[in-house]
Amino acid sequence: MKEEMVIVLDFGGQYNQLIARRVRECNVYCEVLPYTTSLEKIKAMNPKGIIFTGGPNSVYDETSPHYQKEIFEIGVPILGICYGAQLIAYTLGGIVKTAPVSEYGHTEVEVDTTNVLFDGVSPTTVTWMSHTDYIAEAPAGFAITGHTPVCPVAAMSNDTDKIYAVQFHPEVMHSVEGMKVLSNFVYKVCGCAGTWKMDSFVETTIQSLREKIGTGKVLCALSGGVDSSVAAVLLSKAVGKQLTCVFVDHGLLRKNEGDEVEAVFGPNGPYELNFIRVNAQERYYEKLKGVTEPEAKRKIIGEEFIRVFEEEANKIGAVDYLVQGTIYPDVIESGLGKSAVIKSHHNVGGLPSVVDFKEIVEPLRMLFKDEVRKAGLELGIPAYLVNRQPFPGPGLGIRIIGEITEEKVKIVQDADFIYREEIAKAGIENLGQYFAALTNMRSVGVMGDFRTYDYAIALRAVMTADFMTADAAELPWEVLKKVTNRIVNEVKGVNRVLYDCTGKPPGTIEFE
Ligand code: XMP
Repeated sequence: MKEEMVIVLDFGGQYNQLIARRVRECNVYCEVLPYTTSLEKIKAMNPKGIIFTGGPNSVYDETSPHYQKEIFEIGVPILGICYGAQLIAYTLGGIVKTAPVSEYGHTEVEVDTTNVLFDGVSPTTVTWMSHTDYIAEAPAGFAITGHTPVCPVAAMSNDTDKIYAVQFHPEVMHSVEGMKVLSNFVYKVCGCAGTWKMDSFVETTIQSLREKIGTGKVLCALSGGVDSSVAAVLLSKAVGKQLTCVFVDHGLLRKNEGDEVEAVFGPNGPYELNFIRVNAQERYYEKLKGVTEPEAKRKIIGEEFIRVFEEEANKIGAVDYLVQGTIYPDVIESGLGKSAVIKSHHNVGGLPSVVDFKEIVEPLRMLFKDEVRKAGLELGIPAYLVNRQPFPGPGLGIRIIGEITEEKVKIVQDADFIYREEIAKAGIENLGQYFAALTNMRSVGVMGDFRTYDYAIALRAVMTADFMTADAAELPWEVLKKVTNRIVNEVKGVNRVLYDCTGKPPGTIEFE
């Protein structure tokens, strides 16, 4: 199975999973472990290399995370990054001090390109720094292999013991040749062959889920989105009918979406699992009658989801495991915790309190979105499901401004379907997210010599890398014209189509 692996030892830095991801991009299996992991456990895992991450502490603080010195004696190559670099220096007898000048952001480092870590790197390379302490003196046995005008030891190496340290963050994109540094470490220092691929993740995960779950019962809330779909298929491959997936159709899904999910996961689909579709449309529409305030709508949709799920879970009874499709960015976001609530996101966070289970399993916890998609394709999930754009938990409920009715849901579904169809036909691929929303505005129009007084559909399309900020996309006028014509002709109740030119900020991507 895992013939070669690199361990990322987590000292509390922000980019730890990113380091693991970069190592995986070198086709080497990689796991992030807390710095409290015992040396015995690390040795038993037989890693080809170990990377010490950055972290917010100073090595001299009493509470700062350290690691026993013996780790340097087990014969496994080690690379320290930022705090990890300082920790190596400190532990092995070097001197770490508060730097007279902190370096933050883009920083040019002069490196020794004859050193294996910098093989193929430019002598002056642009890196990303973020530190207030620095290594003032390298420990005995270390050569200084990098410096900046204010940082005397921006990199150091002990080639005999294969211990390396860099003050900058090679894992972030701003370090222009950072990937080269990491791949030098992984291939040239650790001697990895780079045989690992996403299918190995799939295989290893299925195997370890099987071992963990044994004959236990597993419950999964399936939304039809990428993350929960990939998690469900992994579980289905691991434990088959021991898995039950509950799919709640709240009547706020995109056109045909409920049936598409059922076609893949239901009894006629390719996977072995118990699939329960709950058609809860009526009760949702009932609860949402007359409600217009966005947060109130979100709250009702979220709570109703929990209630529906609770009823199903009660029918099933106690289970051993509850599956969550948590992916790495969710882990970071929930860790931040202090930012203002702009919108209360409805995911499945409330579920654990209403399900009788022993443990949560989160098989995608270490993956980024694009890695989840790769795993999904490896698992044979249809590309249209795997490549779906993000769809919010409250669904079309937050794309209908004002009161939600069954008639309005139909209007926005049909308009959105046409929009997506035309974008696909035009071959436009680089959009972050695009959808139709139903404004609460009615206006006067004329159709076939008659006056109309109908709704306006708003089209939205944004370019975004992280969904935190976004620019309105400049869609070709031809496409917008075609979509507009089709919507006003084909969707009853709409006589006007508007295009949203607002970025985020000041707008948000969704309308409510
Ligand atoms: P906003 O509207 O906040 O959206 O700019 C940013 C991204 O988050 C999605 N979104 C949600 N996703 N539950 C989710 O799972 C939610 O309640 C929710 N609200 C917004 C939105 O589609 C966009 O991708």
